[in-house]
Amino acid sequence: MSRIVLGVAAGIAAYKACLLLRRFTEAGHEVEVVPTPNSLQFVGAATWAALSGRSVHTEVFAEAHQVNHVRIGREADLVVVAPATADLIARAATGRADDLLTNVLLTATCPIVLAPAMHTEMWQHPATQSNVATLRSRGVVVLDPADGRLTGCDTGPGRLPEPADIEATALSLLADPDRAGQLASQDLAGQKIVISAGGTREALDPVRYLGNSSSGLMGVALARAAATRGAQVSLVAANLSIELPAGVSVFPVVSTAELDSEVKRLAPAADLVVMAAAVADFTPTNPHQTKLKKTGTDPVSVEFQQTADVLADLVAARCPGQVVVGFAAETAIDEAELLRLGTAKLQRKGCQLLVLNNVTDGAVFGASDNDVIILSGTGEIARAAGSKTSVAQVILDAANSLRERKLR
Ligand code: CTP
Repeated sequence: MSRIVLGVAAGIAAYKACLLLRRFTEAGHEVEVVPTPNSLQFVGAATWAALSGRSVHTEVFAEAHQVNHVRIGREADLVVVAPATADLIARAATGRADDLLTNVLLTATCPIVLAPAMHTEMWQHPATQSNVATLRSRGVVVLDPADGRLTGCDTGPGRLPEPADIEATALSLLADPDRAGQLASQDLAGQKIVISAGGTREALDPVRYLGNSSSGLMGVALARAAATRGAQVSLVAANLSIELPAGVSVFPVVSTAELDSEVKRLAPAADLVVMAAAVADFTPTNPHQTKLKKTGTDPVSVEFQQTADVLADLVAARCPGQVVVGFAAETAIDEAELLRLGTAKLQRKGCQLLVLNNVTDGAVFGASDNDVIILSGTGEIARAAGSKTSVAQVILDAANSLRERKLR
């Protein structure tokens, strides 16, 4: 269990922080909410106290004997401010200490995440951008706001990132606080990354299909992590029914043929292509145009033909400097067999990295955690276990360091 301080500044998006608080407490964390005095105009102290199960203060002088302005920051494992308004960002950047929350920001030695929410003009104003740059240079993780509907009838960048996106960053920082500098500096800025996720479906007739158990959670975690690290991400989404990250371009596909053409259209401009989707190897040669009917008790047979091997084709068409990553979900009785299967698949596909995991008994599908071994042509280069977001960060590290070595 970790101790999270949830700071809330005075923006209408404060109501979404209630959902974030629930996510943190349901994940078993202890949360202390520190709202700014003005934010209570949007969500009152009673709501925060009831949802967090703790008393709530906004001012430095409340319960002065507990020295809250120092204690809260010092004891925290993570500080998340959502929403972080233009005013809060300006006060944080200049080191003001005019309410309890800004005192916490000055005394915290743990990672700090700011999730901005404001109108587009305020976000894009040079003053705000300069304050954000200052905070990032000091190691504060300032998320990019989402692009979409704002209060009133305007739209644009300035929406609070979705609670799921804020939570994913928070959880990966709790698992690995040393990552804060990397996330703050947006180390993947300028990179174009194509990620396929989910599972393809091959139509048997207009109502039935051959599919697989992939939830797409791993590919979506990769897309979310890469976007948080500043990359320009295209997500080729095969039949996903999970929450998708903001700040990512999504290209929905259904069948292997659609995924094949979408990935191959996007790949030539990409620095990194990650094939996390579970792609059907076979598709019916002649799918029925009308619904297949039972004819007594006669057995039904369907003829299949092989689909394109998208990953192998990507490798064959790879541009210089591009890194192509494949996934291999194998059923193996032990690690030795897993590594044997993975090494053979890496050689067969020819990709630069292969992310290998054991899916015996259906483990991993739809789960929030994963346990992987990352192989390169020279053998095992990394292992990662934990939330899919933390595993995603390690996969991106491995791909990025390979890319940097190739570019040198
Ligand atoms: N893949 C692909 N095109 C296919 C099948 C798989 O691009 N037609 C990609 C997957 O996205 C994954 C990798 O290849 O990154 C390995 O997928 P997997 O299903 O494990 O490999 P297969 O080639 O199907 O090998 P096998 O069924 O023999 O294990």
